[in-house]
Amino acid sequence: MEIFGVDKVSYTYKDGRKALDAVSLGVTAGESLTIIGTNGSGKSTLLYLLDGLLAPESGKITAFGSPLGKGSTEFRRKVSLLFQNPQVQLFSLSVWDELRFGPLQLGLRGEEVEKRASDILRLLGIESLKDRGPWNLSGGEMKKVAIGACLSTNPDVILLDEPTTGLDPRSQVEVIDLIIALRKKGKTIITATHDLGIIEDISDRTVVLGEDHRVMLEETPWEVLRNNGALLKANLIHTHAHRHSWYVHEHSHSGIHEHEHLPELIGPEDMSKGPVQKGDMQTMSGEKTDMERLRILLEHWMEHNQEHADTYLQWAEKARISGDAGLSGMLREIAVETKKMNALFEKAKKALGGEKN
Ligand SMILES: Nc1ncnc2c1ncn2[C@@H]1O[C@H](COP(=O)(O)OP(=O)(O)OP(=O)(O)O)[C@@H](O)[C@H]1O
Ligand SMILES: [Mg+2]
Repeated sequence: MEIFGVDKVSYTYKDGRKALDAVSLGVTAGESLTIIGTNGSGKSTLLYLLDGLLAPESGKITAFGSPLGKGSTEFRRKVSLLFQNPQVQLFSLSVWDELRFGPLQLGLRGEEVEKRASDILRLLGIESLKDRGPWNLSGGEMKKVAIGACLSTNPDVILLDEPTTGLDPRSQVEVIDLIIALRKKGKTIITATHDLGIIEDISDRTVVLGEDHRVMLEETPWEVLRNNGALLKANLIHTHAHRHSWYVHEHSHSGIHEHEHLPELIGPEDMSKGPVQKGDMQTMSGEKTDMERLRILLEHWMEHNQEHADTYLQWAEKARISGDAGLSGMLREIAVETKKMNALFEKAKKALGGEKN
């Protein structure tokens, strides 16, 4: 069953700022979708539109097969939005009241409401916050309470705007596990995030919004993470501008790779010379200049860098399948950081060629 149909939707804020441009996508029941994109690409705006808080400037949105209007009670019961900024979401005098508000609005009463709120406190490990005022909680505590408030109505469709931002590493893993558990229960989940490290854990499909507020790519998270070009273009990975001191890095070979050209490039006698000084780059050594040798090595390191990143992703996937979301997330983060290094290798190659860095 189709939950949302988004057809060429554009949105411009009152001050003339474009937020979405001809965005189309579909979401089916039980699916988990991630939306990634740089700051200001339109992720939150898209979630507001799906939640019925904003109406498209042009284009159409259908929800549960009907045109999406100003959220009926039935729609409110089914769909819940976690705001990016929990301060916008929380307004009650205590965390306890906050968690009871949604169920009360839905017409639940008495013990049912108390039970729902207690379950949420336990689920998120925030029992100790029960009597606190939401306004003086820490950012992470507030986020957890906002997640609790969002789940308190037991929605079928959950819209999450940056659910892991501002949480410490352990809490991040707990939230990721919670999203995985909600997926298993058959909930439809749409998550906007910057965190490339979590998209594979929590979604089947990823939509990349470009800086032009249009859909740049729609793929499995695995394919998106492998697509360096798109990630660079969407400004989701970046090239570093700082210079590094010159040194020769010895690539460690574990016996997996075979490289016939390497002995000629790095013999043990070469590595024993220690760090190479910048002036040494022009000197001759054997048949190749150090510049030529370094160029080949840079290419070699890049090739391996990519291979290593892919291997880390494969192991991350294995860890995920075996149920270890924490380890999987860490390995994925290592893969993302590793991929970022390719841009540095490119810069080094350019610098070697005398081009302006
Ligand atoms: N209330 C508003 N009034 C005017 N412009 C806005 C408003 N909210 C957002 N915008 C603009 O709309 C564009 C999209 O914003 P949006 O918040 O949807 O992006 P985002 O992808 O969620 O960004 P972030 O990653 O920073 O959360 C941005 O250019 C933003 O400045
Ligand atoms: Mg946002």
